[in-house]
Amino acid sequence: MRLMLVTSILLPVLALPMAGSPSQGASQDLSPAMVALGDSVFHGKVGGALCYVCHGPAGKGVAGLGPDLTDREWLHGDGSVAFIAKLVTDGVMKPKKLPAPMPPRGGGNLTDAQIKAAAAYVYSLSRPKVG
Ligand code: HEC
Repeated sequence: MRLMLVTSILLPVLALPMAGSPSQGASQDLSPAMVALGDSVFHGKVGGALCYVCHGPAGKGVAGLGPDLTDREWLHGDGSVAFIAKLVTDGVMKPKKLPAPMPPRGGGNLTDAQIKAAAAYVYSLSRPKVG
């Protein structure tokens, strides 16, 4: 009796993550998984980039090294995910306010997918959390 009750409660719970995965392929650019990967990229846990060193662990900028990425002021473009991804790919050879350039791919060996994820993460920093 009791065992059956436990099983009937547990089974749907265990089935949930599996039911969720097929829809992931169809999700938007800013899926939570992508932002989470971008978080790891930003903090140098994957890809070897040093975003957090110049932009600060919370993205709020470091004096003399990198600008605040959490405000809505963009020095180099419109703040879209596409703009951020392109900027990260190319780096910033001629900074507008800071004395030293930003290296292409954040000084790391990022794949395009990691760059896109980092862009999604940076994009999310300057926007109020949805959901
Ligand atoms: C060596 C320091 C350094 C590293 C490492 C670095 N950046 Fe930057 N970043 C800069 C500088 C400098 C600028 C340009 C500031 C200026 O124009 O005055 C910049 C600009 C940017 C901008 C554009 C900001 C704007 O207002 O338009 C974004 C977005 C950005 N960085 C994201 C990243 C990401 C993501 C990474 C890691 C993949 C990264 N940066 C790694 C120094 C760095």
